[in-house]
Amino acid sequence: MGRLLVVANWKMNRLPSETGPFLRQLLEQIPPMQHVSVVVCPPFPSLAIAAPFLEKSSIQLGAQNMFWERDGAFTGEVSPAMLRDLYATHVILGHSERRSIFGETLPLIALKVQAALANGLVPILCVGESAKERDDGRQFWVVEQQLITALENIATDQARRLVVAYEPVWAIGTGKTATPALAQEMHGHIRSLLQRLFGDAVARHIRILYGGSVKAANAMDLFQQPDIDGGLVGGASLDANEFSSIVAHARSCA
Ligand code: 13P
Repeated sequence: MGRLLVVANWKMNRLPSETGPFLRQLLEQIPPMQHVSVVVCPPFPSLAIAAPFLEKSSIQLGAQNMFWERDGAFTGEVSPAMLRDLYATHVILGHSERRSIFGETLPLIALKVQAALANGLVPILCVGESAKERDDGRQFWVVEQQLITALENIATDQARRLVVAYEPVWAIGTGKTATPALAQEMHGHIRSLLQRLFGDAVARHIRILYGGSVKAANAMDLFQQPDIDGGLVGGASLDANEFSSIVAHARSCA
C-alpha cells in the first residue's frame, strides 16, 4: 500500500465508449509506483468497461456510490457484491453532492460504510463543511458530527481500512482550493478525532485525503502537509495530463 493515495472522481462525466481510450492514455502516463496508490472511479456504466483495462495495472478501480443491501427489490441501486464482482476495490461514500442533491443522510451513509467494510471494499468517506458553516465558525463541529455519525458501529480493526476525504463544499468545483494551512488544520483535527475513536496506531494508518479544486498547480503544496495523505480529484481527473502530473507530485512527496 502506497503512503499517498490519489483518487479520480469522474462524477457524471465520460461516456462508456470514451472510457477505454482515456484509461489507455492514463496507463501510458502513470507508471507503477511503490509509495503512491491511484484509484479511478468512473460512473457505474463504465465500471465493467474499465475493469479489464485496469486488471493487470497498478491503478485500482472504485465506484462513486453504492447501496448497503446484498441484493433484492431496490430499483436503481447497486450492491457491494456487484462492485466486488467487477474487481472494484474502493467506493466513494457520502459525497457532498450525494448529500445535497440526493438527500443522503449521515445515518444512511453509516450503513453504507459498514456494508463496504463488511464486503471487503475500502470506503472513501467524504466529509466537509459548507461556506455558511465555516463563516459561522462551526466547521470543526460539523465535520466532527459527520465523522462520528458515519463511523458509528465501526470496529477498530475494520477502521484500519477506512479512507477519509475532507472536501470543503465551498472548494468543490469552484476553483477555490483551501490553502494548504487551512486544509492541514482540518486534517489535523480529523486525525485527532480518529485517535479518540480508534487509538493512535489506527488513526495514523487511516489516510485522510483532501478534495476541492485539486490541480497540478496546487497538489504539491497540499501533499506536503503532514496530515494530508493524498487527494480526491474531480474536474482535474478528466484531463489525463493534469491528473498524471498530480500523481507525479504525489510521488515526489511520498
Ligand atoms: P473538484 O476537484 O472538481 O473541485 O471536485 C472535488 C470533488 O468533489 C472530488 O470528489
